[in-house]
Amino acid sequence: MILLAIETTCDETGAAVLEGPTFPDAGPLAVPRILSSVVSSQIGLHQRFGGVVPEIASRAHVRQVVPMIDEALKQAGLGLKDVGAIAVATRPGLVGALVVGLTAAKALALALDVPLVAVDHLEGHLYACQLAHPDRQVYPCVGLVVSGGHSSLYACNGPVDCELLGGTIDDAAGEAFDKVASLLGLGYPGGPEIERAAKAGNPKAFAFPRSFLRDPRLAFSFSGLKTAVLYALRGQNEERGAVEPSPELTADLAASFQEAVVDVLVAKTLQALDRTGLARLGVGGGVAANGRFREKLGAAMAKKGIETFIPPLALCTDNAAMAGVALLKLAAGQTADLDVDVTAGLVRPAQRA
Ligand code: KG4
Ligand code: ZN
Repeated sequence: MILLAIETTCDETGAAVLEGPTFPDAGPLAVPRILSSVVSSQIGLHQRFGGVVPEIASRAHVRQVVPMIDEALKQAGLGLKDVGAIAVATRPGLVGALVVGLTAAKALALALDVPLVAVDHLEGHLYACQLAHPDRQVYPCVGLVVSGGHSSLYACNGPVDCELLGGTIDDAAGEAFDKVASLLGLGYPGGPEIERAAKAGNPKAFAFPRSFLRDPRLAFSFSGLKTAVLYALRGQNEERGAVEPSPELTADLAASFQEAVVDVLVAKTLQALDRTGLARLGVGGGVAANGRFREKLGAAMAKKGIETFIPPLALCTDNAAMAGVALLKLAAGQTADLDVDVTAGLVRPAQRA
């Protein structure tokens, strides 16, 4: 089975070709092989706005979706005639962006007369852990997705059986990195910039808030932290009679902010593991690239004996290969009709189609 997968949930236009194992004989660890995976990033288009502009994202997807599909097929050495099914992420994401990928997927499924499979982008992010570790059992696991759009914890019985435990009530972790970077006059995307600046800083220089740390709810909040950085920056600038932070102050603010985000992500993940009794952890999303996060999460998980899976960067950030989770849905007969629509927000199990 050759699967063509399409990703347009936010600001990356992705296409991938995967070869599925033969179901149902392939067993629980039957992991598809990625034949190709290409991504056209829109970072350059959104950079000057300091965040993703939905209309610009949609238009860029319209321009890029067909070239990406062509490129993915070319790199896999295959043509449209070889495609046996089409997968597309239909939720959650920016509505205008999602619609572009879904429309392309519907058109191809109709023209090629092959099944269409709608996938959840966040289940895809977590399935990337299994794609990256085809020989190891990732599920059941706690799933943590930390990206520009999401900070969510899941209890995953299997790749397409993930229950939302909780998420952010305001900004996503990556969004907080982007906004704080912008406050500090650093570039976009903010995560790598903050991480770089933080290397020279003291993570204890400012005692920034760690929301929900001692709260039993599995929730995140990063907007108060962002405001705390803003006030600290203003206060320090006033004290120094300056309008711009010194490199030392920028480094200390970046390091203290990063430490606060990392502490909360690690603590809440530990809480989710305790609550569910699960012994494995899968992580997805761009924030998982953060070195300090990896270091502290790795140490905390090693201490608890939790087997932790973090895919390589290309599978952590948005990509179409992770929609390979569709092959499991296909094997279970969970295909979509051509009138399937997109969903902007997180979907709880009871609402799932
Ligand atoms: O998963 P992703 O590529 O796209 C979505 O948002 O879906 O994640 C992008 C986010 C951005 O907010 C970016 O600032 C953040 O991931 N990010 C990082 C790092 N690299 C990327 N955050 C912290 N540290 C990093 N090294
Ligand atoms: Zn994503």
